[in-house]
Amino acid sequence: MSQVETKHILHSGYFHPLLRQWQSPNVEITPKNLMYPIFILDEPNAKEAISSMPGVYRYGINQLKSMLQPLVSKGLQSILLFGVSNSLKKDEIGSSADSTENPVIRALPLLRKWFPALIITCDVCLCPYTTHGHCGILNKDGTLNNEASIKRIAEVALAYAKSGAQVVAPSDMMDGRIAAIKESLGAANLYNKVAVLSYAVKFSSGFYGPFRDAAQSAPQFGDRKCYQLPPGSKGLASRAAARDVAEGADFLMVKPGLAYLDIVKQVKDDHPEYPLFIYQVSGEYAMLLHGAKNGAINLEVVLNEILMSMRRAGADCIITYFTPMILDMLQPKSKY
Ligand code: PBG
Ligand code: ZN
Repeated sequence: MSQVETKHILHSGYFHPLLRQWQSPNVEITPKNLMYPIFILDEPNAKEAISSMPGVYRYGINQLKSMLQPLVSKGLQSILLFGVSNSLKKDEIGSSADSTENPVIRALPLLRKWFPALIITCDVCLCPYTTHGHCGILNKDGTLNNEASIKRIAEVALAYAKSGAQVVAPSDMMDGRIAAIKESLGAANLYNKVAVLSYAVKFSSGFYGPFRDAAQSAPQFGDRKCYQLPPGSKGLASRAAARDVAEGADFLMVKPGLAYLDIVKQVKDDHPEYPLFIYQVSGEYAMLLHGAKNGAINLEVVLNEILMSMRRAGADCIITYFTPMILDMLQPKSKY
């Protein structure tokens, strides 16, 4: 007998890959645990590289089918759409967010037709379409007009729903927007056909840097600290999630991901009956990619660890720019 007491021997429980999987329950990554964010540009044939996010592109409508087809074949189940405009006019109220020219509005019916089994979520926000680049409507003095903002956000959400979005995801962080959206969906008799995924716990974060380049949505003055949550506040995180639950959100999200896993656990513990999303944001993507490119880490190995940490913390679905790569990692490998 070894010197180690029998009950202290752990290795016997994980000497084989299958045993290791038995030791890691509920952290599997499958296609249903992934949502792929896509930037749709208002130039139909475009495929524009985003320099701050190598490997991520802005696609024109005519590029979407051939880009998505192989991913759907590999099991992709859900996408998150962001509109980006090079030529649509920006104004104070983000009129282009729901105009007939908006690339998301135009893409929705096509995507629904091409990929009937795919769940299509639309990010709902004004910042890509406002002159000032803020997520809501501003008063003359530059402060937020919350009432006007949620009214407008609800209009935009309804427009996406009417065009075919099955899930609308407001990322603006205005107070009361979930209730306003639910009300507008109800008035249009869509309340039971469209889900609301709330960016409930969205922190003010340096990790959004590359995205603002991708979506061309950086604020022209000031910052978003008055509406996005302060990174140190567990209390506001808790209240924000509870508030959005009370207003009728179907799903909750924590964003960014890796730096906020304690918040993911907190939200899951507080609201176990709600599917929880986590957004591995642009800065997290860029950090991993650059780290791997420079030889510091093995991308697949580290990415897999991070995805498992998100699942362990309580996330049911991970929104990630790495989705195409993860789908490849999930393909059964030939033994020969
Ligand atoms: C803004 C919005 C942001 C992201 C999605 N929608 C960030 C911001 O506040 O600038 C971030 C996504 C990412 O960084 O990947 N409505
Ligand atoms: Zn915004």
